[in-house]
Amino acid sequence: MALKIDVVLSVGEVEFAEGEFRLDFSRKLAIVVDVLRATTTITTALANNAHLVIPARDIAQAFELFAQYPQALLCGERNGLIVDGFHLGNSPRDYTAERISGRTLIFSTTNGTRALNLVGGAKLLLLACFNNVSAVVQKALSNLASIPEEEIIMLCSGKLGRFCIEDAVCCGCLTANLVACCKQISKDIELTEGAKTAVELYNMHKNDLLSLLISCQHGHYLTTLGLLPDLEYASKVNSISTVPVFFNGNISLL
Ligand code: MLT
Repeated sequence: MALKIDVVLSVGEVEFAEGEFRLDFSRKLAIVVDVLRATTTITTALANNAHLVIPARDIAQAFELFAQYPQALLCGERNGLIVDGFHLGNSPRDYTAERISGRTLIFSTTNGTRALNLVGGAKLLLLACFNNVSAVVQKALSNLASIPEEEIIMLCSGKLGRFCIEDAVCCGCLTANLVACCKQISKDIELTEGAKTAVELYNMHKNDLLSLLISCQHGHYLTTLGLLPDLEYASKVNSISTVPVFFNGNISLL
């Protein structure tokens, strides 16, 4: 049987698809991508030994969770900026081992946690960014046997329901790597239109990912906040070998 790879280019496709186009993740392996910056930051936090990341739907829920876990750190952003009363914002560079090793993080961001909530029912849910592409591809392929439908479905977190090119390009990078690995083991592969589009976008930008991140809408916004170093960090392919896994409402390395 061929391995099907699908890329959902915006969360609106999950929220509004109808009839036979409704997306059911429960029998699939899902991958959520929010390059700028939620999945980049969560991947970094776990690479630097955060104990657990608890995603919170909104700021009110984050504070409720904090009342239950007072030893945790409140983390995340609104409009790219740290939330009043939170310990850390959403810059991956802030998640150093000194600050977060061994700590539980309650994490709420505008789009990343929304995307996670949408696909939380997947059979297996991984978090990806440019930093951990190879590790995610290896983890996905090595877990395929336990996935009822042989399908990997990636979701671009985007921005407030709209398309963001940096997430699509990262999904294209993941897809291109999956295709290459499957070729090596002579495994047939089938790409949906979304996956083919993502690969084409990746091929257009793969030689200069930093320029892509600087020129895209959210990257431009982060640059005006003085966060260009976050874009440089997020553009580094395969700098981390950690794969965050969403399980029972929490994110860890499992
Ligand atoms: C989000 O989840 O919306 C983002 O990660 C926003 C950001 O902090 O850049």
